[in-house]
Amino acid sequence: MLIKHFYDPDSSTLSYVVACQETGSCAIIDPVLDFDYASGTIHTGTADRLIAFVQQSNLTLELILETHVHADHITSAPYIRERLGGKIGIGASITKVQTTFAQIFNEDSDFARDGSQFDQIFADGDSFYLGNITCAAMHVPGHTPACMAYLLNDALFVGDTLFMPDAGTARCDFPGGNAHALFQSIQRLLTLPGDTRIFVCHDYQPNDRPLAYETTVAEQRTLNIHVGADTQESDFVRMREARDAELGMPALILPSLQLNMRAGLIPAAEETDRVFLKVPINRFGGVSLNKLPKDKPPAASKGEQKLS
Ligand SMILES: [Fe+2]
Repeated sequence: MLIKHFYDPDSSTLSYVVACQETGSCAIIDPVLDFDYASGTIHTGTADRLIAFVQQSNLTLELILETHVHADHITSAPYIRERLGGKIGIGASITKVQTTFAQIFNEDSDFARDGSQFDQIFADGDSFYLGNITCAAMHVPGHTPACMAYLLNDALFVGDTLFMPDAGTARCDFPGGNAHALFQSIQRLLTLPGDTRIFVCHDYQPNDRPLAYETTVAEQRTLNIHVGADTQESDFVRMREARDAELGMPALILPSLQLNMRAGLIPAAEETDRVFLKVPINRFGGVSLNKLPKDKPPAASKGEQKLS
């Protein structure tokens, strides 16, 4: 089994290509689409590097696996699917995430909340093959309600459920996040054999150490600064919630959620080639909207004007 990592320094995200070397079948896990929020521009350089690797290695892309609806970067899954084929997969609780964020972004009924933007919906315990690689999907809620970990042979791709041992765990304060659930999910992962390799989705390089992305279940059990060495659930939850209360929102949370909840598909154009994303005002805090002077509501269009 081949595992090749790709690091996006802008979002500190690790994407992976995992390939069965006997059959040439491969999966891409958590691919990134480059987005410059200040100018509203999308670029595909990071995704193109993944595509070039798959093509140059003569691999066949079967699956694009999302560990969760990311809040810090946009997925390039549909862009990659269009060029290489493959199915986009995510966990079954995506419907909960879609329902929550459809409300926050005031989506109308055109936005499906049933996960149908994705090709493959994984339930906890689902097993499948990638060439000759034995794969299992595990539902690991906590960071988000729909987080999944994927076990491909002895390699566990944990998304944001665990970071490297010196970085601990991811936040649980996004809508639907839950520190108790995260603790329980982690305990479940740590019952896997100690030599199970763990590949993380982010590395923020604490204390300026070099990039790291691979560890083991045994290392996490003893060394993880948040959950290792017999940490109790109540202590973990207290620590996690206190830390989360200090964190600002990720820079790209609003564009990321709007695209990632629809599998990375660009929202429909308002007019030809005119696509917009929304910025909901004060949904995550701020002063009461009643304190803010507002513009007039839009005049009814001619077609809607009532004749008296
Ligand atoms: Fe995340």
